[in-house]
Amino acid sequence: MKIVSIVGARPEFIQATPVSRALLASGNHQEILVHTGQHYDYLMSQTFFDELGVPAPTYNLEVGSGSHAQQTAEILTRLEEVLLKEQPDLVIVRGDTNSTLAGALLAGKLHIPTAHIEAGERSFDRRMPEEINRLVADCVADLFFCASRTAVQRLAAEGIINAVYWVGDVMLDAMFQHRPIARKKSNILARLELQPDSYALVTVHRAANTDNPVRLRQIVEGLNRVAETIVFPAHPRTQKALAQLDVQFGPHVRLIEPVGYFDMMMLEDNARLIATDSGGVQREAYFLGIPCLTLRNETEWVETVTAGWNRLVGTEPEQVLTAWFNFAPPIERPPIFGDGTAGQQIAQILSSTDIAFGRPRQAVESWLQNHEALPVGVTS
Ligand code: UD1
Ligand code: UDP
Repeated sequence: MKIVSIVGARPEFIQATPVSRALLASGNHQEILVHTGQHYDYLMSQTFFDELGVPAPTYNLEVGSGSHAQQTAEILTRLEEVLLKEQPDLVIVRGDTNSTLAGALLAGKLHIPTAHIEAGERSFDRRMPEEINRLVADCVADLFFCASRTAVQRLAAEGIINAVYWVGDVMLDAMFQHRPIARKKSNILARLELQPDSYALVTVHRAANTDNPVRLRQIVEGLNRVAETIVFPAHPRTQKALAQLDVQFGPHVRLIEPVGYFDMMMLEDNARLIATDSGGVQREAYFLGIPCLTLRNETEWVETVTAGWNRLVGTEPEQVLTAWFNFAPPIERPPIFGDGTAGQQIAQILSSTDIAFGRPRQAVESWLQNHEALPVGVTS
């Protein structure tokens, strides 16, 4: 099968690797990688291709940054040329970025079957740009690969029951595949003169935190009041927002440039605690068994909270501080994100399944049969 795979933002490069490997190994598929150019700084993009050994993308659309409308429109326009030329049998999108949205929307308009990896995630906060992106992607996709069972249930609650597969999280595959190499290659702990278990790792990049000066100031205040070394690799968006706020971090907070995947894995693996608003980092904390405080009021990754390894603390300094030294997860860490074979399962499903464009009528009808009453929320 000829597949166009779309990536554009940091986590998508990481998520793509295990799937690309498995597609290649299957011998059944030709994958054409399209980088939208949403992320473009070396430390936000090329470093992942260099480290993870992903072949260079066949196309780089070089859309760069912009408002949501500008960025999405640029991807749509430039990607259309590629899809019309390549005429793939399938488009793969992943996650919830503007690249995901544009890829899924365009493939739908061009009647190309679309697979969504990381389908069914929801924060139920439509102010999050990512929530809109994933809702649209799931609305128009034809094939759904879910990281968790909760995602399968959420899709079912929205009437999406056809071609839904729980394969686990491709980010777990990526971690299994690269952690041994990271252990050999990364010297970040030595470079930063850190001892294992003696520091906390922080990342922040969500629009709700960076674009809201009140919340960003709260985060800075909270971190400044913590008596522990903090390593904080800052996303460019966050660097810009911090510069505008004109705030100072205490000497125990080590604000650094974004790091590569190997360094990040080693920083995570050796941290005493992780505090983040990143979806990927919340899950990686879980994979590695590092207690995680999420600097948000809600999360898509509710299973990590239910399992007791992740606590939603928002950005209020008192709440962050209360949890910082008191949060103690349980011993058990159930395998809620699968067994690290999501990429292989995806390749196998794509090799053995007839993939059709459009949601089959029977699937919709069978859902309706089970929901004969007026849908919840509709009043007569
Ligand atoms: C995007 C995704 C988010 C994902 C994140 C991963 C959307 C709506 N959001 O957020 O879901 O969690 O990527 O990191 O797609 N910038 C640079 N250099 C770069 C990239 C970005 O300087 O290489 C700066 C620009 O000022 C840009 C800002 O960061 O305007 C935001 O970048 P953008 O890609 O729009 O959103 P992210 O916050 O990265
Ligand atoms: N990451 C990285 N370097 C960093 C910060 C994050 O390699 O400086 C990795 C992290 O380990 C995870 C992914 O990037 O695999 C998460 O991306 P991000 O937090 O940007 O986006 P999200 O997951 O929230 O969409």
